[in-house]
Amino acid sequence: MKFLILNGPNLNMLGTREPDIYGSETLGELMDTVKAYAKERQVTTKAFQSNSEEKLIEQIHLAPLKYQGIVYNPAAHTHYSYALRDAVASIDIPVVEVHLSDIASREDFRRESVIAPVCAAQFCGGGVASYLRGIDELIKICAPIYAYGVEIADEDLLSRGDEYERQHN
Ligand code: DQA
Repeated sequence: MKFLILNGPNLNMLGTREPDIYGSETLGELMDTVKAYAKERQVTTKAFQSNSEEKLIEQIHLAPLKYQGIVYNPAAHTHYSYALRDAVASIDIPVVEVHLSDIASREDFRRESVIAPVCAAQFCGGGVASYLRGIDELIKICAPIYAYGVEIADEDLLSRGDEYERQHN
């Protein structure tokens, strides 16, 4: 299985950005931890970060072609971006929302997530552990579907093979 790890605006500044809230690890270091954790569970990951709403929307639209699920930290977009919410709602693979900090116990404007209602789950406040719980959740959701999908794909191929033989013999 392959998951996309999507990171929204300002997360490229981790390491030096408000370390008392977000810790001192860079985004690259955090993504290495996520990648290693996923690999131990036979999952490949690709990490993407952008400060541009447009680029994030495009990644979400294309994700179902390559990935079985998305672990998504929408950063500040969490609290106001209906465009990203609609992008998440437009795809048919599960998206799990994650946050390094506990958004429920910070400023009032961070309490609401406009993205959460279209996500399969939300994990906050654990630092990188929020991402790891996101990986576990996606595995729980996707593993049975993935195994079934592989079976269906095989059956589909077999029946198409039968059809081919009927037409050509
Ligand atoms: C964040 C929380 C958001 O409120 C904030 O805008 C971020 C980071 C987090 O991971 O804790 O940029 O998503």
